[in-house]
Amino acid sequence: MKHQETISNMTLEQKIALCSGQSFWETKEFRELSIPSLFLSDGPHGLRKQEGEGDHLGLNSSVATTCFPTASAVSATWDVELITKMGEAIGKEAVKLGVNIVLGPGTNMKRNPLCGRNFEYFSEDPFLSGKLSAAWIHGCQSTGTGVSLKHFALNNQELKRMTTDVIVDERAMREYYLPAFEIAVKEAKPTTLMCAYNKIEGTYCSDNKRLLHTILREEWGFDGAVMTDWGAMNDRIDAFKAGLDLEMPSSKGSFDKKVKVAVENGSLDESDIDNCVDRLLTLIERTTRQKSGAVTENVFEDNHELARQIAQASGVLLKNNDILPLEKEAKVAIIGKLAESPRYQGSGSSQVTPTKLVSLLDGVKTYTKDVSFAEGYTIEDHVEEALQDKAVTLAEKVDVVILCIGLTDIFESEGFDRTHMQIPQNQIQLLHALSEVHTNIVIVVVGGSAIEMPWEKKGKAILHMQLSGQAGGQAAADLLFGAVNPSGKLTETYPLTYDDVVNSTYYQKNPRQTPYLESMYCGYRYFTSANKKVRYPFGYGLSYTSFDYSEMKIQRSNKGEMTVTATIENTGQRAGHEVVQLYVSPQTVGVYRPKRELKGFAKLYLEPGESKEIAIQLDTRSFAIYDERQSDWVVESGSYLLQLGANCEDIRLEENIKVDGVNPVRSDCSDWYYTLQGEPTKEDFLTIHEPYPEYVPKTKGTYDLSNSINEMKETSLVCRLIFKGIEKRIAMQTGGEVDYKNPEFKMLMDTSSDLPLKKMPLLAPDQMSFPVVHFILDTANGQLFQGLKKLIKKQV
Ligand code: BGC
Repeated sequence: MKHQETISNMTLEQKIALCSGQSFWETKEFRELSIPSLFLSDGPHGLRKQEGEGDHLGLNSSVATTCFPTASAVSATWDVELITKMGEAIGKEAVKLGVNIVLGPGTNMKRNPLCGRNFEYFSEDPFLSGKLSAAWIHGCQSTGTGVSLKHFALNNQELKRMTTDVIVDERAMREYYLPAFEIAVKEAKPTTLMCAYNKIEGTYCSDNKRLLHTILREEWGFDGAVMTDWGAMNDRIDAFKAGLDLEMPSSKGSFDKKVKVAVENGSLDESDIDNCVDRLLTLIERTTRQKSGAVTENVFEDNHELARQIAQASGVLLKNNDILPLEKEAKVAIIGKLAESPRYQGSGSSQVTPTKLVSLLDGVKTYTKDVSFAEGYTIEDHVEEALQDKAVTLAEKVDVVILCIGLTDIFESEGFDRTHMQIPQNQIQLLHALSEVHTNIVIVVVGGSAIEMPWEKKGKAILHMQLSGQAGGQAAADLLFGAVNPSGKLTETYPLTYDDVVNSTYYQKNPRQTPYLESMYCGYRYFTSANKKVRYPFGYGLSYTSFDYSEMKIQRSNKGEMTVTATIENTGQRAGHEVVQLYVSPQTVGVYRPKRELKGFAKLYLEPGESKEIAIQLDTRSFAIYDERQSDWVVESGSYLLQLGANCEDIRLEENIKVDGVNPVRSDCSDWYYTLQGEPTKEDFLTIHEPYPEYVPKTKGTYDLSNSINEMKETSLVCRLIFKGIEKRIAMQTGGEVDYKNPEFKMLMDTSSDLPLKKMPLLAPDQMSFPVVHFILDTANGQLFQGLKKLIKKQV
């Protein structure tokens, strides 16, 4: 133990107290022990530092800081250096604002495109997400600022995120859901990790010893501290045993008494608490020596420029029928409300107050004076004929229409999921109307998650800017007018329709229990293996130039490591970046596994006519599968194709190699995992997973503290009244109306009314106490008098 001396000077009460926050954003200070408090603030695409009242959904004000593109956009840069710079820039702002730990990055997998928080996560690929997370962490921590890698683990939906129980087979967990965390932990040593709200196989992440101790610390060697997501604490005693160091935010000592009693009666070992204290003291040492010298006067100006550069690199050119780049001084009409009122980040805890904001309209005006603008549609999804007609009339007068469309705030938020993958119908209708009168339509798409694009043919070019941060409008114009050559490549698959997604029929079916029937077949792992056509594949993105791949070579070393090299030549007329992707594709049939998986990538810059060699390293893990019987990674002997591609379906070069390992053996499981034909069923799943008890929704009389007001309101008058009360209070906070189409209202309403009773005192200790939630529970179960009696005696 590193801090034996300090710990031996602490009372049990002090030790327990240190392991839970002081306020919404601060940890506790103990002056007498020279233990300072730490200040935490949200990330991950900028700092959300709140100086007034704190909240975890981005409702109350925060200090202005640089809003970078969100993770889903940033990942499209595939640029480790740039993302390191972004982490560093956010770290510097943290130093300037007195923030010790930034809550980010988020590196959960995109199991399904509808997850409301996909915009905050990097990619559907764990290798790429891991590498980019590590880069972000390296950058941020280089300033002495701490990070919190989140949300560990399997937080892959927002619907019922606080109670859902993820049922997942071991291979899917090891090969798909955990590697991004594993890579980031091993390569970047994050100071803290944030546990997720949900359960895994029946155990909440906060209490999950296998996850937080065995896998994280013993297997991966994590030496930082683990904190809860805000209000994610389930059972403080089990959490101490699991190695959960810090409860956030402060629950005003809700668990302290129980923990002390547990130590006194021997059901909790004091050494478990000492270990947590020891790790927290290390955390304090690591994050209170920030490098203030690195922060310049112009940090916000400099970071705005960096945000622009990252947004330029993250724009993905999806289509270009010889219309882009546009001529400078072209006569253009900018159409679309989103071009004037940009959507540049998602809603929820990551929402930053930007230092400035450049719209697409502002950006285009820096290239041509001949610009006119029409709104065309409203943000609320209903057609306004007058707006549409005005836009069509305007379009008739110009050479080029730049139409900005995409997801509006109501679609992407923390706290709820989307229900479909379409963009608003009024925008689509406008596009159809414009295409009747104009052929030169350039579509600029905004939005942080994959969408259906059945209207794709109507645009002559499509530039996808995603959620591109405060400088995104300028960056989009830089790309449209060719000041910068597009190089972004998608890091998630764009399917033809939502129905094509492997888990589309059961993703939200029983949100309290989520069996991952499809195992590791998500995103391109599914589409390529099932040979299903998509709109745009993983890794896809165009450029204003073209690249040729040649001379692929493989050099093997003794320890199973190898280097893949190839020559890339810029064969077009403009300088540009190319992202080369290396996939490993097993050819010998052994265990079931995806047809190909990304195991390396390289980004390079080439002048016209220039060639360079790329070199990508592989190791044994690049070929391995997780063997449950041995609880270890193994490589199956056989032949593997190493494929160099411009995206996961555009393989330009490949080489077959033989790899030695264990004997390949076909898995004794349902054929679905080999053929991927049709939908996986529970019967299929039970051939790769132990039987598990089905979740049966609770009814009156059996409700427990994991139930929410929303779940109990149909059968309980008290819960109905509380629900109405919540509605009223949130309406007052968000503009006076009960309006489920108002994104802020919906987010707050969904999260508050779906909050399990147990979490209420943790997130709002001033308004709700444990005795009161027990009383609500008793009345919901039809035991009003018993509840009242207990409340009066404060028995709970
Ligand atoms: C989010 C976290 C965030 C925390 C604090 C939670 O609702 O899931 O990502 O860091 O709030 O705002």
